[in-house]
Amino acid sequence: MKKVILAILVLAVALFLILPNLSWAEEDLYKTKCAGCHGADGKGTAAGKKMGAQEFSSPAVQKMSDAELVDYIENGGPQKKASHAFASKGVSAADAAKLAVYVKSLK
Ligand code: HEC
Repeated sequence: MKKVILAILVLAVALFLILPNLSWAEEDLYKTKCAGCHGADGKGTAAGKKMGAQEFSSPAVQKMSDAELVDYIENGGPQKKASHAFASKGVSAADAAKLAVYVKSLK
């Protein structure tokens, strides 16, 4: 019985340590690849706004589907903006999908 309780305790502590790290992964990715222009809060840095970045809380961004966001991040969207061709800059499709969810959460 003691072994079972110990096993549950170990599992609980392991989950406690692992779970926050999972959600930090896309936050870290966002901070290194996107925040320079879009700001940590998605409102856009001064430089990003100057270039024309919109706030992620804006209706224009919020109404984009996950697929559209992934395409924007991976290939630069319909206009194939080179600034966002992250597929060729080490961002996998799976990472782009997580970033799309993260972008939408910044509202
Ligand atoms: C060098 C600056 C820069 C970086 C880095 C950058 N963006 Fe952008 N982003 C912009 C600008 C400027 C626009 C607006 C139009 C355009 O040029 O594409 C934009 C547009 C967007 C849009 C469409 C909504 C809008 O504002 O028009 C999304 C979504 C987006 N970026 C997500 C991301 C994500 C996610 C990352 C990181 C993987 C990222 N961007 C990295 C500058 C940047």
